[in-house]
Amino acid sequence: MLTPAQRQAFADDGYLVLPGFNSPEEIAAVCERARALVDAFEPDARTGVFSTHDQAGRADAALIASADAVHCFFEEEAFGADGRLVVPKAQSINKIGHALHDRDPVFRRFSHGPRLAALAADLGLERPQVWQSQVIFKQPGIGGEVRWHQDATFFVTDPVSVTTFWFALEDAALDNGCLWVEPGGHRGARGVLRERFVRDGQRLRIERLDSTPWPDTGTAVPLPVPAGTLVLFHGLLPHYSAANRSPRSRLAYTLHVTDGRAAYAASNWLQRSGVGGLD
Ligand code: FE2
Repeated sequence: MLTPAQRQAFADDGYLVLPGFNSPEEIAAVCERARALVDAFEPDARTGVFSTHDQAGRADAALIASADAVHCFFEEEAFGADGRLVVPKAQSINKIGHALHDRDPVFRRFSHGPRLAALAADLGLERPQVWQSQVIFKQPGIGGEVRWHQDATFFVTDPVSVTTFWFALEDAALDNGCLWVEPGGHRGARGVLRERFVRDGQRLRIERLDSTPWPDTGTAVPLPVPAGTLVLFHGLLPHYSAANRSPRSRLAYTLHVTDGRAAYAASNWLQRSGVGGLD
């Protein structure tokens, strides 16, 4: 599926942008399904707030419980001081996770097939295992920043194997929080795993492993892409997305895929039996 030049670009840069990977009809089907899941979701207090600034906080239980389920998480700024939603529910959800690809028929169809299996093979994932799926809303006005990180932090394998499939469900631009990446930041001295997200009983925490600094928007490049684009990136590639202060949302869908030949760490937050592939 990928040309030799595309495979080389992925090896050199740590990412690859495939415009027009999904048809408008495929994109419309999953966007409609995501909104229906939010409609059907009944929030109960503030247990589902998701914040990358508060990984070890109150969201631990909700996150752990979502490993094999379909759960909606709120934006941190969705609530006022009185604990009530400050925007309508449909505009207050940060993301849906983490087993849409298994549990929801519409997302299951979108997340599997020969084209995705061929891409994984082209990237060297001999036994692809899909651990999680997420719809990330990046809501207008309150969509929070996702600070610099590497996805291998959340999916430790030996050797490193996690690869991210990032599907643009809506146009991602500079003003609504598109991805930023550090080209080549997955290899050499820059390509060191800086943090590890570990589960310790019912608590989750970030462990600092290395002090190599994160890039910044002066050295990184933005990836503005239209809806239907698939962005593939290496688990060690540093990436970031800014807060969305625009009036437009920036829906994306992600799959995190490891290679079954690599040992999956028992300390990873997400554990499940019977992890499946892409075909
Ligand atoms: Fe990420």
